Amino acid sequence: MPSNGEWVIETRGLTKRFRGGRLAVDRLDLTVESGSVFGFLGPNGSGKTTTIRMLMGLVEPTAGTARVLGRPMPASVRQVMPEVGALIEGPALYGFLTGRENLVRYDAADPAAEPRTRPARVAAALDRVGLGAVAGKKARAYSLGMKQRLALAAALLRPRRLLVLDEPTNGLDPQGMREIRTLIRGLAAEGTTVFLSSHLLDEIEQVCTQAAVMAGGRLLVQAPVAQLSAGVRGRLTVTTPDPARAVRTLRRHGVADLQVAEEKVTGEPPGNRPGEQPVDLADLNAALVEDGVRVRAFGLERPSLEDAFLALTGEGFDVAG
Ligand SMILES: Nc1ncnc2c1ncn2[C@@H]1O[C@H](COP(=O)(O)OP(=O)(O)O)[C@@H](O)[C@H]1O
Ligand SMILES: [Mg+2]
Repeated sequence: MPSNGEWVIETRGLTKRFRGGRLAVDRLDLTVESGSVFGFLGPNGSGKTTTIRMLMGLVEPTAGTARVLGRPMPASVRQVMPEVGALIEGPALYGFLTGRENLVRYDAADPAAEPRTRPARVAAALDRVGLGAVAGKKARAYSLGMKQRLALAAALLRPRRLLVLDEPTNGLDPQGMREIRTLIRGLAAEGTTVFLSSHLLDEIEQVCTQAAVMAGGRLLVQAPVAQLSAGVRGRLTVTTPDPARAVRTLRRHGVADLQVAEEKVTGEPPGNRPGEQPVDLADLNAALVEDGVRVRAFGLERPSLEDAFLALTGEGFDVAG
């Protein structure tokens, strides 16, 4: 565990209750290590954006504290924000300006940005996100993915210690999503800490090293992504020409949530949920053979973050969005 000084983000009991009594974030304790690609995962309405807005000093917490780059927020917003690149809920871009002109505007709004080196800074940021070739086109002609990359370029005009990206792939097609993910990996490889919110499990699984899972304003768990899914066993998969018989045998031996798709029977072996006694898979296989079930293949599928989430909450997750 790093000492407090190495935490890029640290919240203690962070809470936001909106007028009208809605509890959007409920006593959140979060710690983000320097150098991590941190996934902030939760379904829509779970409090991700509200948390990020509190971290960025845009919303006053109702209770609790937030520290970013070791300094209290929102009190230190002036000192902290120059080192933080943030992309929150859709980019604010002018459609009638070109991509390059949009960035020049952003750069000019930064009092610390040296005007003489502006064109070089803007060109470098455009290249960084792969928009160099279309920099002279009006932003309204950009695809959503290109607009999102342009907003990311604005966040990259100066070196940042921390990048906070709120659902940066929201609304993008698979190609646009891939582009953003590649960019994030590249930035992380250079040592920038990335805090990435998403309601998509596979996105977090693909790019993040650490994750926190939110539901209903509360933190369910925070752990390395590998550890989240390692604590869970995958689904049992049996390939057999006798699926009905296999289901009967497996059910008798405590396999839950059995599903059949042609010759493939899948289910959750006992021991997947907390408090359950795990079963020896060799015994399950033997039981199938004993009952005359012909088995072509038998094994556990690799557990995913989704399995981990199910095991944690016993609930589904809006994987598709
Ligand atoms: N300005 C606001 N006023 C009142 N309620 C809000 C406001 N912003 C968000 N909420 C509510 O707070 C909850 C969390 O929202 P949000 O932080 O946007 O979640 P997420 O980003 O995970 O989708 C939701 O129930 C939402 O309706
Ligand atoms: Mg949100």
